[in-house]
Amino acid sequence: MEYKLITEDRFDDVVAHLSTNFFADEPLNKAAGLCRRGEGHRELEQLCYETLKDNLSLMAVNENNDIAGVLLNGVVYPQDILQAHERIELSDDERFKKIFRLLNEHNLRANIFGNFNVARAFEVRMLSVDGRFRGQGIAKELVRRSETIARDFEFKLMKADATGIFSQKILKSNGFKVLSEFYYDKYTDEFGKPILLVEAPHIKLQLLYKLLE
Ligand SMILES: CC(C)(COP(=O)(O)OP(=O)(O)OC[C@H]1O[C@@H](n2cnc3c(N)ncnc32)[C@H](O)[C@@H]1OP(=O)(O)O)[C@@H](O)C(=O)NCCC(=O)NCCS
Repeated sequence: MEYKLITEDRFDDVVAHLSTNFFADEPLNKAAGLCRRGEGHRELEQLCYETLKDNLSLMAVNENNDIAGVLLNGVVYPQDILQAHERIELSDDERFKKIFRLLNEHNLRANIFGNFNVARAFEVRMLSVDGRFRGQGIAKELVRRSETIARDFEFKLMKADATGIFSQKILKSNGFKVLSEFYYDKYTDEFGKPILLVEAPHIKLQLLYKLLE
């Protein structure tokens, strides 16, 4: 497996990989029934391309240059978190809003930029390994190598909204710590009904961070 920075000529291949893997498999997307495998999703794709343009993302490719896994990393500033709701509410997809309201509300409460005196953070945003290549340590290696990129670009803080137990484990094994967590069964509507029924073993969202010396 070879690990490379994702360059513009592979952006469309990366988004195709994500639509057959991450878009369907990520625990919150799955709980919301956001899209069927291989189907696109306008807002998610937009987020992918915007993130890719930060030029901090990595892919693992096999000997045929096929994409086995990707980690989309982006830069996040305090105002991105403060203003995210305006963008979320522009979407006409209720399933998308359920997911991104939860993530944004959690970020607002956790107030990472209030906890750490930095102007920007390196965000580990979408971690995805093709079903045929899982369980070989690819995700772990993508996170490890992303830290090197963050250091090269002089970031002092890395963060991630980890929605599933495996990404939480992978990030912790790379030295990330929990800033805040939220149990999915507490995300309820006005009648106390859960808004997202997230499948076990994924029971909580964690905001994880790593300070880089
Ligand atoms: C989560 C995901 C990226 C893991 O990719 P991967 O390359 O298979 O993960 P790794 O092989 O690097 O595994 C790292 C660790 O997690 C554990 N792990 C990963 N997936 C697991 C699974 N399905 N069941 C049990 N353990 C798992 C591994 O055992 C390993 O632990 P170890 O270091 O103690 O041996 C992949 O399953 C995926 O793409 N899932 C769908 C998208 C998603 O949920 N992304 C994360 C959202 S925040």
